[in-house]
Amino acid sequence: MKLDQALLLDLATFNRQLIGIAESDPDVKDHPWISHSVTRFVEAGGKRLRPMMVLVGSRFGPDPDPVHVQKAALLLEYLHMASLIHDDIIDNSDLRRGAPTLQRTVGVPQATHVANYMMARAVEWALAGEDPAAAEAEEPKPEDKPRLSEVASLLMQLCMGEYQQLSSRFQYDLPLSAYLEKSRNKTAVLMANCFRIGAELSRADKSVCRKLYAFGEALGMAFQIKDDILDYTQSAAEIGKPVGSDLKSGNVTLPVLFALENGSPELRAAIRSLGPDSPEAEFDRVAQAIAASGAVERSLALSGEYAKKAGRIIARLRPHPACADLEIMLKYFTE
Ligand code: IPE
Ligand code: IPE
Ligand code: MG
Ligand code: MG
Repeated sequence: MKLDQALLLDLATFNRQLIGIAESDPDVKDHPWISHSVTRFVEAGGKRLRPMMVLVGSRFGPDPDPVHVQKAALLLEYLHMASLIHDDIIDNSDLRRGAPTLQRTVGVPQATHVANYMMARAVEWALAGEDPAAAEAEEPKPEDKPRLSEVASLLMQLCMGEYQQLSSRFQYDLPLSAYLEKSRNKTAVLMANCFRIGAELSRADKSVCRKLYAFGEALGMAFQIKDDILDYTQSAAEIGKPVGSDLKSGNVTLPVLFALENGSPELRAAIRSLGPDSPEAEFDRVAQAIAASGAVERSLALSGEYAKKAGRIIARLRPHPACADLEIMLKYFTE
């Protein structure tokens, strides 16, 4: 069963609302290519994991407010999508969600602008708490919207994560702690906030919100490590984005760090000799050697440690009935 069905979520409606945000924005009506770009990106696919996290988080509070929870879910998926567009520009990537990346179809300056627009629009909702489809709605109560400071700081951390990745390209002496910190910043903090904001919007008590934040953070770390592994083990058709591209773009991910620790002297030397101008065939050869070196298995084990941590947090949230949803998510993330 698909994750959204298992969690009883209506993603078809959610996708329509996501598209409606840009299409009904009066500020961009004279520039239809902006809303068309957003629509194309939404329709290309995407798992909508972050909105699901917001909705599951909201099931932990005594007083769920479906309208504001839905808005937060839209806002956080919007930030995520914008960050993917920026990420693909930074990585000069060809494929996303099984389709050509936005910068390949509309060009880098335009794609940059679309992603900036999406981030600005998302922050605007957070500030006004308004219905995204209604331009000038009345000011909501402060407890009915994610606090702007939360959204601003998660955006800041997302940017820092991307910057940390960018500034450590082809730096094979990257400490494990730096890899973990950048993964936390670029991926886990957003997931943690999704659960927490959902819970806050349904008036869950503070200790539950904190536990859900920690659950999302652990899940996010497990997720980013698995994503980094997929770059070495899957095909582009399977994951809808290029494979082997982390190594080519100099992203020193966990399999590389472990191969540098435990690989043969030849493999370690081959990794260290890679640079931006290395031939394509050499990247492919080294990627295969990394995949066969045991580094993937060790990375999977660390991802499993984060998943176990997430499992321990579920145990501390019992006997809340929504723990069943956390179990479903954890299972999905570890399969
Ligand atoms: C991709 O996230 C970026 C990472 C954090 C690894 P997803 O795999 O959730 O991307 P979509 O939204 O489903 O395309
Ligand atoms: C996640 O990292 C990117 C963001 C959080 C923006 P990746 O660079 O691994 O994501 P993919 O593999 O391109 O989806
Ligand atoms: Mg990327
Ligand atoms: Mg990746």
